[in-house]
Amino acid sequence: MGKKVTVVGAGFYGSTTAQRLAEYDVFETVVLTDIIEGKPAGLALDLNQSRPIEGFETKVVGVTTGAGGEGYEAIEGSDLVVITAGLPRKPGMSRMDLLEVNAKIVRGVAENVAKYAPNAVVIVVSNPLDEMTALAQAATGFPRHRVLGQAGVLDTARFTHFVADELGVPVRSVKTLTLGSHGDTMVPVPSQCTVDGKPLSDVMPAAKIEEIVTRTRNGGAEVVALLKTGSAYYAPSAAAARMARAIAEDSGEVWPVCAWVDGEYGISGVYLGVLAELGATGVRRVVETPLTDSELAALKEAAEAVRSKQSDVAGL
Ligand code: LAC
Repeated sequence: MGKKVTVVGAGFYGSTTAQRLAEYDVFETVVLTDIIEGKPAGLALDLNQSRPIEGFETKVVGVTTGAGGEGYEAIEGSDLVVITAGLPRKPGMSRMDLLEVNAKIVRGVAENVAKYAPNAVVIVVSNPLDEMTALAQAATGFPRHRVLGQAGVLDTARFTHFVADELGVPVRSVKTLTLGSHGDTMVPVPSQCTVDGKPLSDVMPAAKIEEIVTRTRNGGAEVVALLKTGSAYYAPSAAAARMARAIAEDSGEVWPVCAWVDGEYGISGVYLGVLAELGATGVRRVVETPLTDSELAALKEAAEAVRSKQSDVAGL
């Protein structure tokens, strides 16, 4: 307790993240902000009224922020900030179609975070994820280990769910891994995937693995197409909240996240989906995992694809 976490953006992604963080009952305060008048306060009031039923003491504070940064004083002293602000995809859109509009939004938020919560660890979930993470780091000027993005926990969860569902085994029996970008150059790593400790390739035909890999890569778009308005939020918020908790508890857990890579895998100077050890300082270190030649080649390709986009966003 004693910790304060802020969630910027009270859409479905932000509000379910705030709910999960509050229900963990490990934070003193969860601040939920949005630019819509009354919405964060209403959601906070509603969440606080669930405290006696769910049995948590964490208090949720809802604040409307203005274009000039009004209201941001409420995030002062936050140990963690989760940035969910920005538009979600519409059916048929790629995450990259959101680049320009979300760059402006995320930059504005990041500047206020730098001003009011200069010591926070920042978790970015806005899309396109890898680019928005790089932009948030540039706009806050925070050390790179203190700014990271959520993607691999979500992509891996989707991969694991599909494998468990296909084989009819508990999700806990399945271990999967995805690296690279949260987009077209997502790199599933079948060589690191196991079912009850056995290699995935021993228990599932190659064609089925390939089908599941494709479904994982399109996992967000599949939900968007069904919802028609908005994008996924239950699994995404579970991922973001778990990462926030690992950092708040200085747990040392190793998760796939979007982190600054500088030399690992022979890749330098780019935000990329990799395994990382999380702690109070954000990313304690990037953890290199053994990859096959083709997986490593795919990771390098992903790095170059996001590197060129990340340099574009610097000017947005
Ligand atoms: C998804 C969005 C949130 O993958 O990026 O569902």
